[in-house]
Amino acid sequence: MSISYCKEKKLWILETKNTSYVIGVDEENNLQNVYWGSKLPYIGDYSPADISKGHSSFDFREGFANLEFPAWGGLLYSEPCLKATFSDNVRNLSLKYDDYEIVRNSENVSDESMSELRIDLKDSLSYRLRVRLYFRIYEEFDIIEKYAEVINEGEQPVTLESIQSGAWYLPEGMDYRLTHLIGRWSGETQLRQTFLTEGKKVMESRRGTTSPHANPWFAIDNGKADEDYGSVWFGALAWSGNWKMVFELSSFGQLKITGGINDFDFSWHLKPNCTFTTPVFTAGYTENGFGSASRLMHSYQLKHILPKEHASEFRKVIYNSWEATYFNVNAENQRSLAEKAASIGVEVFVIDDGWFGERNSDRAGLGDWFVNRNKFPDGLAPLIKTVNELGMDFGIWVEPEMVNPDSKLYREHPDWVYHFPGLPRTEARNQLVLNLARDDVKQYIYNFMDKLLGENNIKFIKWDMNRHFTEPGWPEAAAEEQKEIWVRHTLSIYEIVERLKAKYPSVVFESCSGGGGRVDLGILRRMDEFWPSDNTDAFDRLKIQEGFAYAYLPKAMVAWVTDSPNWLNGRKLPLTYRFHSAMMGTLGIGGNLNHWSEEELKTAKEMISLYKEIRPIVQEGNLYRLLSPRTNEVAAVEYTAKDGSEALVFAFLHSSQFGVGSKTLYLKGLESKALYKVEGSDGLTSGAALMKKGLEVNLKGDFDSKLIRIKKVDYI
Ligand code: GLA
Repeated sequence: MSISYCKEKKLWILETKNTSYVIGVDEENNLQNVYWGSKLPYIGDYSPADISKGHSSFDFREGFANLEFPAWGGLLYSEPCLKATFSDNVRNLSLKYDDYEIVRNSENVSDESMSELRIDLKDSLSYRLRVRLYFRIYEEFDIIEKYAEVINEGEQPVTLESIQSGAWYLPEGMDYRLTHLIGRWSGETQLRQTFLTEGKKVMESRRGTTSPHANPWFAIDNGKADEDYGSVWFGALAWSGNWKMVFELSSFGQLKITGGINDFDFSWHLKPNCTFTTPVFTAGYTENGFGSASRLMHSYQLKHILPKEHASEFRKVIYNSWEATYFNVNAENQRSLAEKAASIGVEVFVIDDGWFGERNSDRAGLGDWFVNRNKFPDGLAPLIKTVNELGMDFGIWVEPEMVNPDSKLYREHPDWVYHFPGLPRTEARNQLVLNLARDDVKQYIYNFMDKLLGENNIKFIKWDMNRHFTEPGWPEAAAEEQKEIWVRHTLSIYEIVERLKAKYPSVVFESCSGGGGRVDLGILRRMDEFWPSDNTDAFDRLKIQEGFAYAYLPKAMVAWVTDSPNWLNGRKLPLTYRFHSAMMGTLGIGGNLNHWSEEELKTAKEMISLYKEIRPIVQEGNLYRLLSPRTNEVAAVEYTAKDGSEALVFAFLHSSQFGVGSKTLYLKGLESKALYKVEGSDGLTSGAALMKKGLEVNLKGDFDSKLIRIKKVDYI
């Protein structure tokens, strides 16, 4: 049993394959984390929780305890997981241990590879607030999920002012180095590393959605871990609205990491007998460096996070016509692109923005989800029929949460957007955000999506969101519910997508927000893949994709091959380089195929056919970073097949200097005693040699690239 309770010591021991996470109850009934790291061999190694540590009258008790769910009140001065105000204006909580239950494969825990511990805390100062903590362990992946429910068992409402998903503590006395992802539109998921000093480092979004500026993922090490060695604690939050992670290092060396829904401009009116459930906060530990941390996250996402409908299918090769035709889509130009796309092996043809309402630019039409008859005189049906006859699925772009003031929808329902009465409504990209906290708006979105999917043979939805929130007012709501919009909006998105998925299980959903603005584990539980960036420059993408793959699996990372020079920066890159870069995730094509030469179309066809052969390895294999595009002239990533039968190496040269034409790559994850056939070279090489002596790759000039297949053929 991977979760056990030791009665004498009042300890719960949660064990995964290589780690343990230990929780205890101290003499004053506080719930504390007492250990998180490599599994220890002897039960006596785990000490009971105690409260005796202290320093002075200014710092004692709570200030030193690793409280599992610190609630604001008493002596707690650091970041709380819960802050509440009761109806009599008391603002103080004292959560004490009440009860526990270990569940395995019950009704709620249907997954055999996961076990669950529930621990109840109760406010001990006579207020009837219960907090139920959930701990789910994924043994195989050394991963634990936490979330909490706050249950109002009293007779009066309670106002929640901060409710986090949980707190994590790291062993004391380390130099804590934080690795995280920052970004902006067209430059998402850029890796950063910084040492933490005493105080707080906050990563967050106050924009209504995850945002490209920071991603809710982290890793902590002691400054010495690398790709292959060293302890790394890592985690990610499953939430697509305002979120916050706080890394708080106390003056006594305690590192506490809290995470959950952002408490900024938040409050929740919790009525009697009602429950508030937090998002899931996932975290894990490995002794084997950042590479292992990423692979554990990838495998966990593949098995437990990706929506079940398509989790085990390989992602298809997409064509998206956005960069080819922008808003000028019409039946004719889409048909000719579809014919070209089919001829090179594309499997899903997606029309992007511009097909509906008066959508001739980004100034009008959002909200009017009916086909523009000037562009598609006979509706979408003839195009879909053509696409299907060409052997491809049909997909379409929508941006359901938005409205242009210049639209039929807005003229009819100006009150459907977030706003404060009488104040100007700030526009961004000429659009406003619909108030999804309102039931009628939620229903409107569900209905038009239901109609779109019900009336057309659509197998792919690109769900976009192209601006962040402003003036987050909800005039019709009661005063005490006004600040709930941040949470309600996200819950409405989740609900709409879940309902649509249940009714149309064959439809694949792609999450996009001006590129990678909504990339997180919350949306990945509901949508099958991400559009990581509008930046389709294959060189810039190397860094974006590297950061992305620290946290998220390559199967969910869509990348298109687009035209050269690139629309964003004018960079010219060889077609094979563009393909190699895009083949490191789920391959798509986004160029104007009508402008591609016969030669280019031939190359594209060959590359797509090659991708179809290797996609099981890219999409579901093990990813090893060999050389980072952040620090090297040559960037290289290796993928190995889950069954070990093959490895792939993608290598990219930026620009050669001083006549150097080759680079030795030290491969990883191979079997030392197996013999491999390296594509393009004679004879066989042992796994040991490929890893220790290395593989020499010749790259020349500027922006050269190679994809090398390495097949296991024998054993020594
Ligand atoms: C966003 C998306 C793009 C494209 C446009 C359409 O910017 O990220 O891929 O769909 O919207 O307007």
